[in-house]
Amino acid sequence: MKVWFAATEATPFIKTGGLADVVGSLPLALAEEGAEVSVILPNYGQIKEQYKLEMEFLFDFIVPVGWRQQFGAVLRLKQDGVTFYFIDNEYYFKRDGVIYGHYDDAERFAYFSRAVLEMVQRVEESEVPDIIHCHDWQTGVLPAFLRIHYQHLNRYHDIKTVFTIHNLQYQGVFPEEVLGDLLGLSHEHFTADGIAHNGLVNYMKAGLVHANQITTVSPSYRDEIMDPYYGETLEPVLQHRAVDVRGILNGIDYRQFSPETDEHLVENYDVKTAEAGKAVNKAALQEELGLPINPDVPLFGFVSRLVDQKGIDLLAHILPDLFELDAQFIILGSGEAEYEGLFQHASTIRPDKVASYIGFDVGLAQRIYAGSDAFLMPSRFEPCGLSQLISMKYGSLPVVRETGGLRDTVQPFNQFTLEGNGFSFSNYNAQEFLDAIKRTIDTYHDKPVFQHLIETAMEEDFSWIRSADEYLALYRLIAPSVD
Ligand code: GLC
Repeated sequence: MKVWFAATEATPFIKTGGLADVVGSLPLALAEEGAEVSVILPNYGQIKEQYKLEMEFLFDFIVPVGWRQQFGAVLRLKQDGVTFYFIDNEYYFKRDGVIYGHYDDAERFAYFSRAVLEMVQRVEESEVPDIIHCHDWQTGVLPAFLRIHYQHLNRYHDIKTVFTIHNLQYQGVFPEEVLGDLLGLSHEHFTADGIAHNGLVNYMKAGLVHANQITTVSPSYRDEIMDPYYGETLEPVLQHRAVDVRGILNGIDYRQFSPETDEHLVENYDVKTAEAGKAVNKAALQEELGLPINPDVPLFGFVSRLVDQKGIDLLAHILPDLFELDAQFIILGSGEAEYEGLFQHASTIRPDKVASYIGFDVGLAQRIYAGSDAFLMPSRFEPCGLSQLISMKYGSLPVVRETGGLRDTVQPFNQFTLEGNGFSFSNYNAQEFLDAIKRTIDTYHDKPVFQHLIETAMEEDFSWIRSADEYLALYRLIAPSVD
């Protein structure tokens, strides 16, 4: 089974969010299960020199973008049984600052998607993929291009596509003009059952309409997006394709996220040494961020992009109540200026209760997972979520809203049976969130019970193998003649 991942971020090369973790680790698990996997990425200027030096030049080619022709080159780097290809075009991808949000994103990602398809003609015959697996709106037009511009050509006949939704909120919405100019499509494709959505071109919708199969990153999110509350206006399209939409829960790469080996921690630990190990990390973390060093006060961590999806407005709403609790809070992240300012202000006025770090620091993030007792994720929606999986592994109990992947991975503590691996609340409501925090604090003071929950959480297994098997089964379903 030959699978190409077409995606616009992957660890360790380039990352803005959870998509990069998935594209950086799922292919390795698929390869371990016997698939031949390649990952195709843009060759961004931001990719570190150490990787650039390892890339070998393969060929250059011409990529059609609407009625124009653009140059491109393909570079290759092999790593852990997976081949990474980088599409090189400095005009599109060598830019300072962010990798998304440029005025010409419609063109940059149309080019990228088209380049992946053009590669099929250039590689060895034996490397032609059986499956092209696309991720999020940036590659949404690829299944449409394949069907409309390529499928009649020899090498493309049997290629099937899978389109994975990591976040339905970002859709890649552009004016109608991009249709002919960038996509090379005529007006017959600009229809409500094609890629038009509310009078605009919608790249996400292009993927949803044209891919052979659609997946999203947890079973609960799969069901939620059929409903207008979560469907981001695309729920009719998803309902129409419901039989082809599956929820496959993401995994986590424990080689990268494990308190036993994590080099950023002041002391490593496993489930047997967690009690002492976490105490050392907690004291060090309190000291690092200037909080009172106190082993007996529950410490809550929050590591997130500071955007609406993550439930920051709930956290903002209950800040004054949190000041009244005998607890400490650490906030790490960056995003909307309003929230950055709010948390900075909170840590200035209550340095005994709140510490904030605006920005991102991988080492500090890992130390928060290790040193905190509990971890907050009050998301408005969460397609899967990785942080709750990391926090469980590090023995910081997740306090989550019951949505999407959070609902599928966190079992709320049951005080009668003592079962569970975290705490949760159901409605998107600040009071319910505050109550869940208070329940966590109460349980924290029942030391044997809290320790039991920590051990249960640390022993959960969300490694990639199970997800990889589900993806392989899906690939076989649409390409049954392939080994
Ligand atoms: C997006 C989602 C997140 C998911 C990740 C990887 O970032 O918001 O919930 O875990 O994609 O699939």
